[in-house]
Amino acid sequence: MVLRAKEMKDTNHRSSILESKTFILIFEKASTRTKVSFEVGIRHLGGHYVFMTPKESQLGRSEPLKDTARVLSRYADGLIVRTFGQAKLEELSKYSSIPIINALTDEYHPCQVMSDLLTIYERTPDFKDLVIAWVGDGNNMANSWINAAAYFPFQLKMAFPRGYTPGEDLLERALQMGARISVTSDPVEAVRGAHYINTDVWASMGREQEQNTREEVFKGFTLNEKLLTMADKKVKVLHCLPAHRGQEITDQVIEGEWSIVWDQAENRLHMQKAILEWIVAPE
Ligand code: CP
Repeated sequence: MVLRAKEMKDTNHRSSILESKTFILIFEKASTRTKVSFEVGIRHLGGHYVFMTPKESQLGRSEPLKDTARVLSRYADGLIVRTFGQAKLEELSKYSSIPIINALTDEYHPCQVMSDLLTIYERTPDFKDLVIAWVGDGNNMANSWINAAAYFPFQLKMAFPRGYTPGEDLLERALQMGARISVTSDPVEAVRGAHYINTDVWASMGREQEQNTREEVFKGFTLNEKLLTMADKKVKVLHCLPAHRGQEITDQVIEGEWSIVWDQAENRLHMQKAILEWIVAPE
């Protein structure tokens, strides 16, 4: 799918593969990149979409998810869902008869990591000798990187503050599948020799009330020029955005020679198109 997304990018791909198909976007959390890249991607492929939030739908008035899933399945060809707990997505999936794309849950952000893999692939097509670092929270992005490491042969070096690590089960499963992942609480150790470094906000959506505590806990986890000197000389930095400059990343780094975040954001569009195409026409 990474290769298909790259091909779509290189050819400014348009098609009618989603002609007469409608996707419903159910977003319970804010979004800029994911919402717009899916909406634009659907249009590039000739399809239609409906955007829903709890505020103007019966979801916000406690209509059960299982009822929503069954009804929407009779109108549309796929759901694209951004919600809180993964269990909510799985409840929708259980009662839906159409495909569901995870557009972010508290636990996972797979579409983001898939487009991040495209961003890396464009610069380093061979993942075998690649060292990718994660510096930050053990959040949905970290979890999805762990999952990716189970399928791609790069080495993943992760640094989290103590108590902010991802679930042991997830890590254990990836390791059993052959992932090469190391975990530390020292960001310097994680970035040493890294070709790419990832980070994300310290307090993800839904955890804003922990912001002050987390700013204390995550001191030393800022991607700044000094930390980058410990990485590979040509290191590049990824951030899924939105970024909090001065917290997880400095303005100098995100605006500097290391940053590939704008390509990374653009690639959301190309990867969403590859995902949508695969949903309706799996190889
Ligand atoms: N990275 C990401 O998912 O961005 P949005 O929250 O703007 O969709």
